[in-house]
This record gives sequence, structure tokens and C-alpha cells, in this order.
Amino acid sequence: MGFGRAVLGARATRVVLAVGVLWFPVWHLAAPHGDSAAKAAAPADGAPRPIVPLNSVPVPKPQNLRQFVKDESAGIKLGKALFWDMQVGSDGVTSCASCHFAAGADNRSKNQINPRVGAFDTHKPNYQLKADDFPFHKLADINDRNSTVLSDTNEVAGSAGVLPSTFNSILPGTATENVTPTGTDPIFNVGGVNVRRATGRNAPSVINAVFNFRNFWDGRAQNDFNGVDPFGMRDTNAKVAQVVNGQGGLVSLADDCALVNGISQARGPLCLTNSSLASQAVGPVPNSVEMSSDGRTIPDVGKKFTKFRDIGRKLRGLRPLARQFVSPSDSVLGGLARNKGKKTGLGVSYESMIEAAFQPRWWNSKMIVRVDPSTGPTIVPAP
Ligand code: HEC
Repeated sequence: MGFGRAVLGARATRVVLAVGVLWFPVWHLAAPHGDSAAKAAAPADGAPRPIVPLNSVPVPKPQNLRQFVKDESAGIKLGKALFWDMQVGSDGVTSCASCHFAAGADNRSKNQINPRVGAFDTHKPNYQLKADDFPFHKLADINDRNSTVLSDTNEVAGSAGVLPSTFNSILPGTATENVTPTGTDPIFNVGGVNVRRATGRNAPSVINAVFNFRNFWDGRAQNDFNGVDPFGMRDTNAKVAQVVNGQGGLVSLADDCALVNGISQARGPLCLTNSSLASQAVGPVPNSVEMSSDGRTIPDVGKKFTKFRDIGRKLRGLRPLARQFVSPSDSVLGGLARNKGKKTGLGVSYESMIEAAFQPRWWNSKMIVRVDPSTGPTIVPAP
């Protein structure tokens, strides 16, 4: 878990690891038949795998999932709720699904352009894309790459995220946060009024992304998950808190991994291999273009969603999907829809979903994490 801000209730921090479990819904969406269908025979060591339909390929899972996850179906529920929950965004309306809504990708067409280099040249901020705009690199003869280039741009169609702002604190019980809007963005403004910034890359589909060895276009979401950021073993400072004998301690998951011929292998019980979707999922949540006010950490999001103590006050976390209706026929969350989908949100708390999904050593503690910017995080008894 990333440690950013003053004091975090241990209960509040439980969402942190849980966010990693976002790989569950994706994996669930990825292979609806994956586990039950006839499995493709595993190739002999080193032999290439035969080409077969994906629904016959077993979904690659971490070999030691039980170290973390107590109940996979509870984990899938939690992951799906977090994936769709608009309250995850600092503005209270941006979810993962905002950019991965249509077949797991983004089919929005307004304010989706990023200039990549400098200011806009071909399009404008808040531009409404038209079919004629494509392709961005236009040739006189599409079958001849050496034909005359009719038009070109280094702009790309990305995904609209949040308006620029700086994080101050969460506002317990509300989906929006206490943020300070940043002044006029030099690029994403129309007549001095900011518009949402758009990402510099296109949003690929999340469907079947579980089969990617690494994720993101540049493969930076490492195959092994360190519990904190996308970089797996490459970040040697990434540590997560666990509870041993009622005491909290910091542990590095990546210390239990080794790279063998460029592939992460477990050398201890806590190495999470086959987890690039978890490495991916912790990227957008604190990203100030995609979902976050600048400076917000994942533990801050944990505080938003779980109850914690703050200067003697007990504060409640937000109801899962509190601003959205959940269909009672939803294959994963339908049974939890509040009042059979007539009221918004789920009838359970994120805390109870986390407790159902994860082994107690990742959440069952009375300790809190205290962060001193000069000395880093320490785990101390709750005041
Ligand atoms: C503002 C839009 C936006 C939001 C919000 C967003 N994503 Fe994405 N997503 C993207 C873009 C853009 C990329 C490609 C980024 C890159 O490759 O650097 C991406 C890449 C991915 C990929 C990789 C797929 C592949 O084939 O490599 C997955 C999986 C994914 N996102 C899941 C999520 C999850 C889970 C969340 C919420 C925690 C989320 N996204 C939030 C825009 C978004």
C-alpha cells in the first residue's frame, strides 16, 4: 500500500490491498467459461502452446492466491463493485468503468483528444470527434504506405478523466473530496474554463486483459504485484502491512519473487505472480489525469470507503455504488442490490465485503499506520 498521508486507521487501509483485487472482475469478465470449460492441455515445458479458443484456456491465477484471498466469489463481488463505483473518482463521478464502459473500452467521442506534444494543433480541447477524423494519419492510397500523406497529427484519441485539482482531504460520508481546483490548465481549457484532461493513450479493452502477461500499452504493469504500484519487483520500496499475532508489520511481497529468464517466479509464499491486472489496477486510482485530485493516495480512497476513527470520532465509509442503481439481475452483484434495485447501491458495506474476501491477516488489526513524511510509515496501536 502506498503511504501518503498522516494517520490511517488500519481498518481504513484494508481497501488498499482490496483495490488490487480489481483484477477479479476483469478476470471474471474475461473468461465466463474459463474455469468450467474443457481446459487446453498444458504444453510440455518450453513447447509453444497450441492456438485454441480462449474460453478453453484456463485463466492464469497466482499460485498462492489463498495467502490473500479467503473466498474468490466474495473477491469478485468486491472487485466488480469497485470497478463500477463512481465514488472512487475524486469528483465522485469517475469510475474505472467510465473509460472501460463499451465492451471494456471507451466509445465516448467528445473531449477525448490528447495533443501528446505541446498544445493542440489539429483539434481543439473538448472537440467532438467525427467519423471523418479517422484515421489521424491519412494517406492518398490506404493500400500504399508510401503514397502521399494527406494529413497527419501527433494527437491521439484517449479518454477523458477528471478536472485538474489538488487534494486536501476526504470529506467523510461524501463522494466528492475537499480539493482545490488548479488554475487554468494550459492545454485543456476552452476560453479559460478548464475541461477534463484526456489521457495520452487510448483505453484498451479490459476484456481478456487477464491473458496479458503484462498490461498497459508499454507493458509497465508488471506480472508480479507488489501491493502498491504497477512496478512489481522493480519497486524495491513497496511494502504492505499485515497482521501477525495481532501486531502490524510491513512486508515486501516482491522480496518473495525472483526473475528467472525475465519471468517472475515465486521464491517465497507472498510473491503474487500472474497478477498484472492487480499491478494495473493501482495505477489509475491515484492518477491525477484519470481519477484523482493531485496528491491523493490509495489509502485516502480506503478512508473514503471504510469506517475509521478520526480525533475520537467514528466515521462511516461510503455505501458501495451509493450513487448508482444496481440491477437485481446483475450476475455478480444482483443479490446485493438494495431493495431489489429500487434504491441505489448495495445493501452491504465495503468493510464486510473485504472481510468476506480477504484473509484476516490483511485486515484484522487494531493498529493504525502513522505516516511521518520524514521517517515514513510506522504501525502503532490505535489511540
Ligand atoms: C480516464 C480513463 C480511465 C480510467 C478512469 C481507467 N482507465 Fe484503464 N485504461 C485507460 C487507458 C488510457 C489505458 C491505457 C494506458 C496505458 O497503456 O498507458 C488503460 C488501460 C487499462 C488496462 C490494460 C488493458 C490492456 O490490454 O493493456 C486495464 C486492465 C484497465 N485499464 C483497467 C482499469 C481499471 C481496473 C480502472 C480503475 C481502477 C481503470 N482502468 C480506470 C483509461 C482509463
